[in-house]
Amino acid sequence: MNIGKFTSEQIAQFWEKHPVGSNFVPASEWKDFFIRYDRFRYNHEPHILEEIEKINFKGKRVLEIGMGQGAEAQKIIEAGAIYNGIDLTKESVTRVKLRCELFSLPYESLQVMNAERLDFPDESFDIVFSHGVLHHSPRIRIIIHEIHRVLREGGLVVVMLYHRNSINYQISIRFIRRLGIFLLFFPGMSRLVAKLTHEDMERLEKHRRYLRRDGLAYLKMGNFIHKATDGPDNVFSSVFSQSEAAELFSGFKNLSFSKHFFNERHFPILRSLLSANMKKKIASRYGWHLWIKGIKSCSR
Ligand SMILES: C[S@@+](CC[C@H](N)C(=O)[O-])C[C@H]1O[C@@H](n2cnc3c(N)ncnc32)[C@H](O)[C@@H]1O
Repeated sequence: MNIGKFTSEQIAQFWEKHPVGSNFVPASEWKDFFIRYDRFRYNHEPHILEEIEKINFKGKRVLEIGMGQGAEAQKIIEAGAIYNGIDLTKESVTRVKLRCELFSLPYESLQVMNAERLDFPDESFDIVFSHGVLHHSPRIRIIIHEIHRVLREGGLVVVMLYHRNSINYQISIRFIRRLGIFLLFFPGMSRLVAKLTHEDMERLEKHRRYLRRDGLAYLKMGNFIHKATDGPDNVFSSVFSQSEAAELFSGFKNLSFSKHFFNERHFPILRSLLSANMKKKIASRYGWHLWIKGIKSCSR
């Protein structure tokens, strides 16, 4: 894949225009918006809270990379961290500042910054946390190198990346969603495709436009992966198997992995047949979200 063509400026422009998750919850009054956003998020992805609760943040100097709407920022601060957050976009930093003000959450710093060039001294953090961000950079190795640099010896890294060996990637994205978008070539298919892919009509219209413009090349996985994960305008996404992630984080010791999130929206029948416990079991093996934890060791 030619990664040189994806610039940080293009990636920032996309996230400025599409703050993560705002398509799920309409922005109304801000405090109410944050409460409803978090409720929606943790109803759909309760494992995030479970994972966060396993980490001892109390009194720890924490850096979060890619805050989005600041849901985890709030949890981490409430758990007693000395919190520092960065995001590529002004929009996210402004929203998290507002959230902190509205909920009286103390923090050390909130800054617009590219994780590819962390403006912090070596060994300045006990924990670096990043959920759903690093797979949006074509220069992920540089970011991991930066994380290693700013963590103190014995510090903890916690990262979530999209999981290649997941039902969402191998079945939903590669087959169901691609087939759905392919059907948009034909007139009058939008309703069926909306049912199949669970995309809203506005997004489908964009997919259709880009498909007409680029032809079948739009559906090649090297291109479609960006469009299927975070919408038709998304600039860059990638997916990782556990062994690929282990290699990326090989500079850390005591690596551990867990998988979560069975994205069940493409499986309406299965969804109604499976118990919550069974869904959790499936997600623990083939979930879309691959959580990686490791400890900084000096000997890289
Ligand atoms: C998919 S959102 C995830 C946000 C949040 N952590 C969550 O899980 O909802 C990706 C966020 O990471 C930010 N981001 C993307 N690339 C980044 C980079 N190189 N450095 C810092 N932030 C980045 C984007 O601006 C966006 O807010």
